[in-house]
Amino acid sequence: MYRPTVSDEYAQRIRQWHENAYAQARAEAGDGQTFDYLGLTLVVPPDVHPINAMSHLLGEAVLAEVRAGDRVLDMGTGCGVNAILAASKSTDVLAVDVNPHAVATARENAERNGVADRVEVRESDVFSAVDGDFDLVVFDPPFRWFAPRDLLERGSTDEDYRALTTFFRQVRDHLRPGARMLIFFGTSGDLGYLERLAAEAGFHSRILANRRLKKDSWQVDYYTFHLSLP
Ligand SMILES: C[S@@+](CC[C@H](N)C(=O)[O-])C[C@H]1O[C@@H](n2cnc3c(N)ncnc32)[C@H](O)[C@@H]1O
Repeated sequence: MYRPTVSDEYAQRIRQWHENAYAQARAEAGDGQTFDYLGLTLVVPPDVHPINAMSHLLGEAVLAEVRAGDRVLDMGTGCGVNAILAASKSTDVLAVDVNPHAVATARENAERNGVADRVEVRESDVFSAVDGDFDLVVFDPPFRWFAPRDLLERGSTDEDYRALTTFFRQVRDHLRPGARMLIFFGTSGDLGYLERLAAEAGFHSRILANRRLKKDSWQVDYYTFHLSLP
């Protein structure tokens, strides 16, 4: 059962931030968007999580971390972006998402960027359709814990952090010896809760990238974490 680690006042600010961010995302989604991003062309329909100004903090980390022999899992792949980046070196990438439109989009973007033979895409609720184990796991989870109203919003909010909690309780069963994880998160979510889940699962964590965004007299810090087991 999720209980916020932030104060009621801070939770209210996150709620307001979320409402504004969702309204903006809905407006920008239009009939779909095309992004030129880190050498890729990504077509993203309106009900799939888009590329944003902070995406590169994780994307660049994926490019720096992935090795040729890695079996890679991209959890919550969205438009497939991090799976496709990982496939620049790995020949064995599994990308999963609970949103069926994201699954179709990731397949199309893998094809568009010439890595369809290296990226398998499956519909999966966290690990429900994931088998086997991995050397590298990438996850940019929804930051908030409110109930989503639609599939686009499900990209940014995970009711009561059910998916995030399930991820950290089950991921160890899918890691090879020496496996690494790249996790992206920000203070417009309950970062303390994520840190607690990671610690409870026994992970050692360090910050690979960090950026601060100031908006409406509020600041949000974004982090790419590198997690491993001691
Ligand atoms: C913040 S978006 C990240 C998308 C993409 N990885 C990126 O970096 O742009 C989170 C993604 O997680 C997916 N997701 C949410 N709940 C999930 C669940 N229970 N199982 C699998 N994927 C889930 C959403 O559909 C969304 O595509």
